[in-house]
Amino acid sequence: MQYQQSMKEFEQFLQASAPQIPSFHPYFATAFWEMLLYGGKRFRPNLLLAVVSGLRPIMTKNAFLPALALECLHTYSLIHDDLPCMDNASLRRGKPTLHTTYDEVSATLVGDGLNTYAFYLLSCAKLDPSVQIQLVKELAYAGGIGGMVIGQALDCHFENQALPLEQLQEIHSNKTAKLIAASLKMGAIIANAADPLTQDLWDFGLRLGLFFQIRDDVIDAVQEAAQAGKPTRNDGQKNSYVNLLGLAQAKELLQAESSALATSIEAFPKPIAKNLSMLLGDYFKEIV
Ligand code: IPE
Ligand code: IPE
Ligand code: MG
Ligand code: MG
Ligand code: MG
Repeated sequence: MQYQQSMKEFEQFLQASAPQIPSFHPYFATAFWEMLLYGGKRFRPNLLLAVVSGLRPIMTKNAFLPALALECLHTYSLIHDDLPCMDNASLRRGKPTLHTTYDEVSATLVGDGLNTYAFYLLSCAKLDPSVQIQLVKELAYAGGIGGMVIGQALDCHFENQALPLEQLQEIHSNKTAKLIAASLKMGAIIANAADPLTQDLWDFGLRLGLFFQIRDDVIDAVQEAAQAGKPTRNDGQKNSYVNLLGLAQAKELLQAESSALATSIEAFPKPIAKNLSMLLGDYFKEIV
């Protein structure tokens, strides 16, 4: 399947994939899938699909469940990130956050449910069981104590306390970059890529993920909430690239990283390079 077609079909698949949750709870089932239906860029599933459709297009449909698992885990991380005890945000993906529409208990439990549902989805994927196990391992670690969770813990613990750049980079690498690197690696695992290519995709993903979070820090400083779909100028107490380097230098770093990433894409096998260029072109443009 062509990459662009696979992204379109994946979105339709996601929109139709709300699970049945039979219960007499008045709104939990609606709340559970709501934040997924609200959209977002689908960056992580699209990275996974870029690798699979480039390397082993015949496996693209089989990759939809793992791609959905990534988006479920990521969406859980956003729902929890927005809670009053974390970033206290009232807008996400252009809509009110779940704890604003419903209540904190529901938002916390929807997050918990999306986290475990991600692994349920991996168990349902039509893939070789040994591939499934590897996917569970990557997602559980990069999305958990080996990445996102420890990164978020550091991010919140060190609010109001300026850290050196090296530690800021460690926070960003964990909270954001590792899940992004895992998205590419999971694609490589599904496509049965050779070890060196899998490693190169992981390394590229770490750099891309750091770029992605620096870009997110710049978005917080320069965009309006309506454009970002979430509250901006909200990072005042955070260790962010803008707060540590200043806006001008953070933007310079972003441009330098875009160029470096665009160059390193060229080293990948042609079909992967083509898909990644197509996906990332817009992200490499200057933020206005
Ligand atoms: C936001 O992620 C949180 C970060 C890791 C920067 P995204 O920018 O991918 O958010 P959505 O999925 O498009 O809403
Ligand atoms: C969140 O980073 C990273 C996650 C793991 C969710 P941010 O707190 O900067 O993300 P936004 O700006 O709220 O999307
Ligand atoms: Mg946060
Ligand atoms: Mg936040
Ligand atoms: Mg942010």
